[in-house]
Amino acid sequence: MGQAFFHQDIRQSGSHNIGTTNAYRVLGPVGGSIVLVMDILKGTLGASLPIFFGIEQHWLVLIVGLAAVAGHTFSIFIHFKGGKAVATSAGICLAYDWKFFLVCCAIFISLVILTSMVSIASTVGMGIVTFVSLFWHDWLLTIVACALWMVFLIRHKQNFARIKAGTENMVPFGLGLYL
Ligand code: G3P
Repeated sequence: MGQAFFHQDIRQSGSHNIGTTNAYRVLGPVGGSIVLVMDILKGTLGASLPIFFGIEQHWLVLIVGLAAVAGHTFSIFIHFKGGKAVATSAGICLAYDWKFFLVCCAIFISLVILTSMVSIASTVGMGIVTFVSLFWHDWLLTIVACALWMVFLIRHKQNFARIKAGTENMVPFGLGLYL
């Protein structure tokens, strides 16, 4: 999208990631917002496929949602590379239960404000979301949340290296800027 509309390949700039955070960083708020909406929709529409076919099963939404994340993270369009699965996972939560989605958003936004680092908000936030999923009393939700958390941890390896080196990118707001 960056290349087609903004004449810029975000894989060549910033963190080199194809996700929302790097799209904001490189393309600005318009490009970032478009990527955010598209990535959430990818998860929501992907996970909702069984519902479109008249199968209203929560468990199937989660399993098909995982396939959407796999397609996003190991994309066949860019040689099995891809994003860090954050917004697409949020999309699955929206398809599963909008209340769960709102809780996830509140956790993520609070952590971004606290740390000023989207990578920390994503990885620590997903750990908290996995714990919070226990209150939904759906064992498959907790297993899927745990699996997504593992994907997040693996895909944020470079972010952890940058955090260790003190060179991680920060958003221009939040308490993390003053620590
Ligand atoms: O969107 C993924 C986020 O957690 C980190 O992105 O570009 O800072 O590596 P980025």
